[in-house]
Amino acid sequence: MRFDLVILNGTVATASDVFSADIGIKDGVIAQIGGDLADAAETIDASGKYVLPGGIDSHVHIAQPSGEGIVMADDFESGTRSALMGGNTTIMPFCLQEKGRPLREALKAYHALAEGQCYTDVSFHLIVSDPSDAVLGQELPALVEDGYTSFKVFMTYEDLRLSDGQILATMDVARRTGALVMVHCENEDAIRYLIGRHEAEGNVAPTAHASTRPIAVEREATHRAVSLAEVADVPLVIVHVSNRESMEEIERARKRGRKVIGETCPQYLMLTSADLDGMDWEGAKFVCSPPPRDVTSQEACWDGLERGVFDLFSSDHCPFRYDDTAGKLNPKGAKNFRHIPNGIPGVETRLPILFSEGVLTGRIDLSRFVALTATNQAKIYGLYPRKGTIAVGADADIAIWNPGITRCVRHAELHDGADYSPYEGLELTGWPITVVLGGKVMVRDGKLVGKRGDGRYRSRSRSALLDGRSPVLG
Ligand code: URP
Ligand code: ZN
Ligand code: ZN
Repeated sequence: MRFDLVILNGTVATASDVFSADIGIKDGVIAQIGGDLADAAETIDASGKYVLPGGIDSHVHIAQPSGEGIVMADDFESGTRSALMGGNTTIMPFCLQEKGRPLREALKAYHALAEGQCYTDVSFHLIVSDPSDAVLGQELPALVEDGYTSFKVFMTYEDLRLSDGQILATMDVARRTGALVMVHCENEDAIRYLIGRHEAEGNVAPTAHASTRPIAVEREATHRAVSLAEVADVPLVIVHVSNRESMEEIERARKRGRKVIGETCPQYLMLTSADLDGMDWEGAKFVCSPPPRDVTSQEACWDGLERGVFDLFSSDHCPFRYDDTAGKLNPKGAKNFRHIPNGIPGVETRLPILFSEGVLTGRIDLSRFVALTATNQAKIYGLYPRKGTIAVGADADIAIWNPGITRCVRHAELHDGADYSPYEGLELTGWPITVVLGGKVMVRDGKLVGKRGDGRYRSRSRSALLDGRSPVLG
């Protein structure tokens, strides 16, 4: 066979094995691993490098409507470019249903924004903000059939939160259709109570974002979400978990035999609430929900990654520019933390942070890195075995890592549309240098060579969690 591309002499890692092998790629897929790969149109020498499945970031917000006068910093072009440069080949942004409007309408607009713009493959989760009879009875079941097999519901944010009854009704659609529900766990009433107290005391600086969303608010909601999922009898993903008490809710549910997946994110390993204390409102750069906690919670999250409490490590990339009246420093947000848009950028730094701080420190091994950042995402969200692994027949989505490069994070060298990185100055060792998407070299030796539009939309099958084998939970 004449291969389109071969990758020679690398150390290949999957979620289960690390081995030396050459890889032959033909027509966008991995056609051969090992053996005679001499006849090739193009060759990459990966000596001394790791050859990993391209990262899949299953929690990303791009061009999402974020309130009057607020504009997200990334569109599909900049968001996927940044993801690609950070070693990702697929991202999963959220398509938000606007209240009172059909989900199909939001999807049509979202597809139009993504069409022809992407540097990585993309697949959409849905956000259900208005579970009307029509949405629950007709729209959602039809959308699951069409490959939108996961939806997120919120227990917080005034205009997004669902009641327990609405969450149960949405979970029931998931039960009947085989979709997967993701929950943002924070108790909105408790937050509102604390905001009232803070405002009465004139305590309105960014740091109040953290103290109005304490661990108890997240722990209670996590307990409620796993209980509601138990009542509805559905598997569940608890997204962006920040602390041990919420992890314990997940572990307790698992001991009862529930299929509950936990996700954590770089901000809960690398940041603390002290970052929100910044001078001159700089703390706004770190406002996200749940907020970063303390060093004890960081250690807890590392422990969760090591012990398997977490099966997903995603970025929750949700970028707003800082010095911008349409971003963090919007006219109201510059005066009161309550109006600072929630979310921070991180799609490009997710993988280097976990590689440098997790793999090179010996906290996790290379196979666990691959599982947490690509394979589990593919299995949990219905892209496996086409994506998330290196195997014959899989899409040739590959990131080649140089484990010896040390670089400081500098926003000026990143590729997103924000104007800062929350990790500015962080020294990281190990960076992706070459990225292949569907057999096409998109990043070569750190330089972007692919084209906008090379990435495509991918519909998904149902989660592997539903087929009884629970590959992730073991
Ligand atoms: O603050 C955050 N995490 N913003 C993104 C939206 C969400 O809740 O995931
Ligand atoms: Zn959320
Ligand atoms: Zn999010």
